[in-house]
Amino acid sequence: MLTLLQQNINKDWIPLITGIPKRYQQYSFNNFIERGDKYKEAKLCCKEYFNYKSHKSGLFIGGPPGVGKTHLAVGTIRNLEIITENGIPRKAKAKMIDADEYFNLLYNAINSKQSKDKVIQELYRYNDVLLLDDLGLINMTMAKQENLYLLINYTYMHLSKIIITTNFTLDEFAKYDERISSRLYEMCHIIVLTGEDYRLKQ
Ligand SMILES: Nc1ncnc2c1ncn2[C@@H]1O[C@H](COP(=O)(O)OP(=O)(O)O)[C@@H](O)[C@H]1O
Ligand SMILES: [Mg+2]
Repeated sequence: MLTLLQQNINKDWIPLITGIPKRYQQYSFNNFIERGDKYKEAKLCCKEYFNYKSHKSGLFIGGPPGVGKTHLAVGTIRNLEIITENGIPRKAKAKMIDADEYFNLLYNAINSKQSKDKVIQELYRYNDVLLLDDLGLINMTMAKQENLYLLINYTYMHLSKIIITTNFTLDEFAKYDERISSRLYEMCHIIVLTGEDYRLKQ
């Protein structure tokens, strides 16, 4: 049951963006360097296409470690606008959540006898977009697979917005669970960043 306080919170009362860890707080489009055409295209897709011109509700950003996936994704949620029902744009409310944190959240839901659907609903209740960061396939148990499916299916059914960063390709996801990869193929713009690991250069 909702508390009185929860009932009174509306989307205008909470911060625009939550969950960005300290290390990522400087990430933005302004300091994202376009390393060649692929990067230029990727930034444009995030900045304009996904933002204003898209009928797709997802963004899937793949590539090896250190190529700027999280940087681009954080820039995107900072820049994202939502067109309201009366046609006026407003800044999107976004939540960044590390994939492991999401899995823990659902794991804890079972322990506290909460429904998993309810937890996912709550994630979207105060946010227009979720950024699921660093989704991996290593140590993917059946339980995690099912929890990932629940989120992707909810997002798919409700035309909610999601941004996923991962070191894996959608074809690799398909080997685990075609229900997930098939929905992601349909609902996402797919961006693949390649190149040197920026972290090793610094
Ligand atoms: N195109 C880029 N422009 C500026 N900095 C970048 C770019 N790509 C990566 N970096 C920097 O490299 C580091 C790793 O980037 P990050 O986005 O966290 O990588 P990952 O692809 O692993 O998510 C960060 O310090 C980030 O700011
Ligand atoms: Mg990352």
